[in-house]
Amino acid sequence: VRHFDVASPGEIRLIRQMFPDAVLHYMHPVKGRQAIRNAYRQYGVRDFVLDSREELDKILEETDGATDLGLVVRLALPKGNAVYDLSGKFGADLTDAVELLRAARAVAPKLGLSFHVGSQMLDPSAYERAIALAGFVIAESGVVLDVLDVGGGFPVSYPGVTPPPLGDFMAAIARGIAAIDLPAHCRLWCEPGRALVAPGVSLVVQVVKRRGNELFINDGVYGALSDAGVPGFRFPARLIRPFEAMTDAGDEAFSFYGPTCDSADKMAGPFHLPADVKAGDWIELGQLGAYGSCLRTAFNGFDQARIVEVSNAPLLATPGYELRSCAA
Ligand SMILES: Cc1ncc(COP(=O)(O)O)c(C=O)c1O
Repeated sequence: VRHFDVASPGEIRLIRQMFPDAVLHYMHPVKGRQAIRNAYRQYGVRDFVLDSREELDKILEETDGATDLGLVVRLALPKGNAVYDLSGKFGADLTDAVELLRAARAVAPKLGLSFHVGSQMLDPSAYERAIALAGFVIAESGVVLDVLDVGGGFPVSYPGVTPPPLGDFMAAIARGIAAIDLPAHCRLWCEPGRALVAPGVSLVVQVVKRRGNELFINDGVYGALSDAGVPGFRFPARLIRPFEAMTDAGDEAFSFYGPTCDSADKMAGPFHLPADVKAGDWIELGQLGAYGSCLRTAFNGFDQARIVEVSNAPLLATPGYELRSCAA
């Protein structure tokens, strides 16, 4: 991966440090002036997303009227059925998007249109519908488009949730593209987050106390398990014990409490673990590569986590995702 969708000066610095030659696309539609200026001048960012006239003016002013920009108009979508709906916060409505495409085309050598169907989108046809809407906006505006960006949202498996195979999503996108009028040179972009990295990280926690079928563990919603709180994500769970200490106790459903003093630090699950799980046991929770460690806080001082590289397969497979192990 040598192209990165970045959202902040911190992400820009991080990626530049790790991959000096990477191409960075600044895909946050509401940016600070200084952030735009530094991104363009210091870090060589040329592609910027926008969803308002104000943001377009800001980009042009802070880059001193640059003539080498890639400007991407973010289109708002109607509220969808993704687990994480992203429709409310960003995006231009149809009328504004038409205006913005025309205005951006007049000043940018590269023009794009983007949307995000929402995260953990389980319905492939959502991409087809969004592309149809994009097609309508492109036709209305009469501009020649260089990039269509279908965003992220591609789902992964969680306990009790097996998404349609990845191929179904690609087929829906292909159908959507075939049904609209794009110039032959137009590039297709996407911005996968969860799908790319969720299976790549497990969190290993220790049970500090058991109270009935509630386990007090040493990480929680203010740590890497934010999504297990109010959003109610369930993660695959596996007890880790020395082989000789394993019993043949059947599985039971457990809920978790995190380590902080806030009673909201609670995860309903249910998480399925052997019935004899007890204080001192270790538990592996899978699918935490996306929106796990990046959401950690230091609340109540619980910010310690050790990162260790291992070569195990992920706890849970997602249909259509080919996982290849890398040589060390
Ligand atoms: C602009 C943008 N692109 C891509 C993503 C990644 O989305 P996902 O993890 O659902 O693939 C996000 C997530 O919020 C986003 O805001």
